[in-house]
Amino acid sequence: MRAAVLQQSGQPVTIEEVSLDEPKHGEVRVRILASGVCHSDLHVRDGEWPRPGPFVIGHEGAGIVETLGPGVDSAATGLSPGRLVALSWYAPCQRCAACRSGREWLCTDSGSSRHRLTDGTTRLHRPDGSAVYPYCGIGTMAEATVVPASAAVPMPDGTPPEVAALIGCCVSTGVGAVTKTARVPAGSRVVVIGLGGVGLSVVMGAVLAGASVIVAVDRVPAKLELARELGATATVLAGADSEAIDAEIRAKTNGGPDFTFEAIGLAATIEQAIRLLPPGGTAILVGMTPFGVRASFEVFPFVDGSRSILGSNYGFAVASVDFPRYARLHLAGRLPIERLVERRIGLDGVEDAFARLRAGDGLRSVISF
Ligand code: APR
Ligand code: ZN
Repeated sequence: MRAAVLQQSGQPVTIEEVSLDEPKHGEVRVRILASGVCHSDLHVRDGEWPRPGPFVIGHEGAGIVETLGPGVDSAATGLSPGRLVALSWYAPCQRCAACRSGREWLCTDSGSSRHRLTDGTTRLHRPDGSAVYPYCGIGTMAEATVVPASAAVPMPDGTPPEVAALIGCCVSTGVGAVTKTARVPAGSRVVVIGLGGVGLSVVMGAVLAGASVIVAVDRVPAKLELARELGATATVLAGADSEAIDAEIRAKTNGGPDFTFEAIGLAATIEQAIRLLPPGGTAILVGMTPFGVRASFEVFPFVDGSRSILGSNYGFAVASVDFPRYARLHLAGRLPIERLVERRIGLDGVEDAFARLRAGDGLRSVISF
C-alpha cells in the first residue's frame, strides 16, 4: 500500500510502497478514508520535535474497520468490519493510575507516545523488510493502518469520514480545551489567539459553551472571517504593535476576558494570553511549541490577582466517550466541523499542504483516499 513516510525529522516526506501485517492480539486493521494535515505533523516534519524515523506520519484520521485481530471483542468494543472509526492518537493502556482515574490523556504507559503498537513493535515494513513505525501508534497518512483496538472509536451512523478524522485531533483538542479543561461557564468572555484547525475548534467550543463574548485573533484576515461565521462576536487582526493589539482585544471583551486560549504555540502569543488576563482570569495553553521554548510573565500581579494558567493536551479527551459525543453534536448541527475543511488532496499533496500550513495559508487540508 502507499504511505507518506518521514525518514527523519527535518526531511521531506516521501510517498512509498510499504507492507502492512495482519493485526495481532488486541489490534484492528483500518482502511483509511480521510486524514487531516495538522500542525503537529509539521512540527515533526520540520524537526521542531525531532524524532528518529522512519515513520508513516499522520495522526488525524478516520476509516473503515477491515479486520479484527484475535481477542478483540466486537460486542464490548462496538468494532466490526465495515464500521466507521475515528482514530485516537493516544491509545490508553487502561491499566495505569491515570487511566484508572479516567484521565486517559495522562496515560503513562501508552505505546502511542513511543510511536509503536502496544507490544512495542510495528506492523509496517519496507519491501526490504526493514521496520517503519506508525506515528503516534496510528500513522494515518497511508491507505491502511493497524492500531490498538482502544485507538479505534466507532462513530455514529451518518458521520462524514472527514468530520470523524478531524474529531481525532483538532476538534477534540479545541472543543475539549473549552468544555473539559477550562469548563467555561455560559456567559463567559473568551479570547482565542490563533485560528487554525485547533483555534477554530476552540471558537466552536466557546459557542457550544454559551460564551457571550468570543474575540478571535489571527494574523490572516480570511481566518477572522471564518471565525465570525462560526460564532466569534469580534475579531482582531494580529500585527507588529503588540500594545495596540492588546488594547484592541481588551476593548472588545467587555470587561474581560475571563478566559484566553493560545492555539498557536509561540512564546510571544503565550505571553500575550497571560498578559491579557484581568484578576481572576485563566489562560489555557493549547498550542504546542517546539521543544525547549520558554515563556515568561510578571509574577507579582499574576499571584496578586489570583490568575491561572492551564495546560491542555488533547482537550482532556477520553476518546471512547468524547469522540462519539462530538460526532453527535455535529450531526445535531451544533459543531459545524465540515467548515474547517478547505482542500481535499491526494497523498502526494502532503508536502504542499505542509508549505501552506507553514505560511499560515488556508484551513485544513484533508487527504482523501
Ligand atoms: N499571531 C496571530 N496568529 C498567528 C501568529 C501570530 N503571531 N502566528 C501564527 N498565527 C496563526 C496562523 O495564521 C494560523 O491560523 O495561528 C494559526 C495556527 O494554525 P495551524 O498552523 O493550522 O495549526 P493547528 O493545526 O491549528 O495547530 C495549532 O496546536 O496542537 C497544537 O501542534 C499544534 O502547535 C500547534 C497548534
Ligand atoms: Zn494534531
